[in-house]
Amino acid sequence: MSTEALENLLRENRHFPPTPEFAAAANAKADMYEEADADRLVFWAKQAGELQWESPWTQVLDWSNAPFVRWFDGGKLNVSVNCVDRHVAAGHGNQVAYFFEGEPGDSQTITYAQLLHDVSQAANALEALGVQAGDRVAIYLPMIPEAVVAMLACARIGAVHSVVFGGFSAEALRSRIEDAQAVLVITADGGNRKGKPMLLKQAVDDAVALSPSVRNVLVVRRTGQEVAWTDKDLWWHEQLAEQPKTHEAQAFDAEHPLFILYTSGTTGKPKGILHTTGGYLTQVAFTHKNVFDLKPDTDVYWCTADVGWITGHSYVVFGPLANRATSLIYEGTPDTPHNGRWWELIEKYGVTILYTAPTAIRTFMKWGRAVPDGFDMSSLRLLGSVGEPINPEAWMWYRHVIGGDRCPIVDTWWQTETGAIMISPLPGVTATKPGSAMHALPGIGADVIDDEARPVGKGGGGYLVLTEPWPSMLRGIWGDPERYAETYWSRFANTYFAGDGAKFDDDGAVWLLGRVDDVMNVSGHRISTAEVESALVSHPAVAEAAVVGAADETTGQGIVAFVILRQDVEPDEHIGVALRHHVAKEIGPIARPKQILVVAELPKTRSGKIMRRLLRDIAEHRSIGDVTTLADPMVMHLIGEGLTAAKGAED
Ligand code: WT7
Repeated sequence: MSTEALENLLRENRHFPPTPEFAAAANAKADMYEEADADRLVFWAKQAGELQWESPWTQVLDWSNAPFVRWFDGGKLNVSVNCVDRHVAAGHGNQVAYFFEGEPGDSQTITYAQLLHDVSQAANALEALGVQAGDRVAIYLPMIPEAVVAMLACARIGAVHSVVFGGFSAEALRSRIEDAQAVLVITADGGNRKGKPMLLKQAVDDAVALSPSVRNVLVVRRTGQEVAWTDKDLWWHEQLAEQPKTHEAQAFDAEHPLFILYTSGTTGKPKGILHTTGGYLTQVAFTHKNVFDLKPDTDVYWCTADVGWITGHSYVVFGPLANRATSLIYEGTPDTPHNGRWWELIEKYGVTILYTAPTAIRTFMKWGRAVPDGFDMSSLRLLGSVGEPINPEAWMWYRHVIGGDRCPIVDTWWQTETGAIMISPLPGVTATKPGSAMHALPGIGADVIDDEARPVGKGGGGYLVLTEPWPSMLRGIWGDPERYAETYWSRFANTYFAGDGAKFDDDGAVWLLGRVDDVMNVSGHRISTAEVESALVSHPAVAEAAVVGAADETTGQGIVAFVILRQDVEPDEHIGVALRHHVAKEIGPIARPKQILVVAELPKTRSGKIMRRLLRDIAEHRSIGDVTTLADPMVMHLIGEGLTAAKGAED
């Protein structure tokens, strides 16, 4: 398919209504919107009622202390029981919960009965180590079944997990352990990535050496590689083997903390986003069932996210398990050992639902359709997208090449903070448009408003806001209630500010326009400019740094860094490489700038604020925009001159 054909389609503004067959069999019907509109709280109470509660709630929503919220107050439930035990009790013990495929090609099939054994043993092991309800446990693992088991074991005993993405550095892990005062770390000797073992344990050793709160480290044996051993370390398999395979689970309050997940904000310090029990599980289960149209008896569902991100929490672990899904987990990267690995897995396991990110889709487009065309993917019946705006060209390619023009696409907008999907088509109801997330889900209030908080209406653009509290909303930022109120609830009164720009088209469909704050979106992951800048400035050669996200064909945005060197440092051709390496070490490879530009000056306003807009113009090779608010209008000229003289490293 040529680019031109795609552009023509875009001009036609085509709709893709669900087929009559899909619509007839869909979990969600059109009347769900009316039902939720008639009484939002009755609607959410009905969704919560799909879960197994130990004791009922006394109040659906308490918003009297806004922006601090309570959902299903007084109710008690256990997340692990909802995700595992109740399915086994209902006779589904032999159903597969997860197919696991390791990057080297090893595989496992884990039934719900097996999962119950594993989670029970792990819960017993955590208790034997003195972990109690409310304690924080850091999980730093590759994408292996033990990651799911560890999360469920924490939930089972009421411990609060903080999963740290395995690609983050020792320093990133350390600061998260410290912020949450974690008592236990669960990790592995390593994982498999791009055909090589990745070194997790070394990073944990470095982090834990500086973390007095950590009493023990449980180490899963995954690769079998040699690892150093400290007196806090214990093998996961040895600790579990000693434990009984049953565990009596206790129910916790609906508002008991379930997990913390750190995400980037506009300052250098990551925010520990806090989610709780009853409302979170209600909304992830509801959205997973209705947005993905999950049929537990026949679907094989694959969300390709890592458990280190919110998508992995909500749509690899809690949502699918609450709905008794059969899921696929894959450890490795899409290009190992060959570029068709994902499509091979879809063929092998008969995957019916695929949920992935635009950055992956664009990578596959680059590799060419001959790769997926070599596999039988006729099992697929629904496709999902998340993490950043999906450009219409990628949407059309996804639909045509991967979905064989037969699968509805759900473009799902949400955030770490929202916990679950907020804006998305319903696949049996909505006539989708390539590139649009379409409408707020039933029970969700979303709007687009201008600077003065006036709704922009159809055809208008502005800020995306959420107008009503929702069950899976964040309950706060760990240890910092003021920052929570300030970041999300102060810009507009009684309204959640998401930090995204958006517009309504003439039919009232929502189009996301990217972040409006200094947060970049690289491969669907939020990275703050401030964090990368402070990592750069921590290098002895750097005096000052400014970072921008510049449009990148594959990753959405790529990080471009402008640095001023210290006076005694002679710029040489190695400095770019050294700085890129330094950022990868400080934060993780995901934050490594794709380009470093050594400059003599940075453009600043009179109040000293860096004008990233102008730097973005340079990074995206545009002519420079309005410079009238610059303290020194000559600066841009200087930067331009400097750039032609000293070029930095580039991928
Ligand atoms: C930010 C949240 C939600 C899980 C993955 C990212 C962007 C997310 C979409 C989408 C346009 C999207 C937004 C949002 N985003 N999904 N379908 N269309 N933009 O979670 O790291 O918390 O990032 O990702 O900018 O604010 P996150």
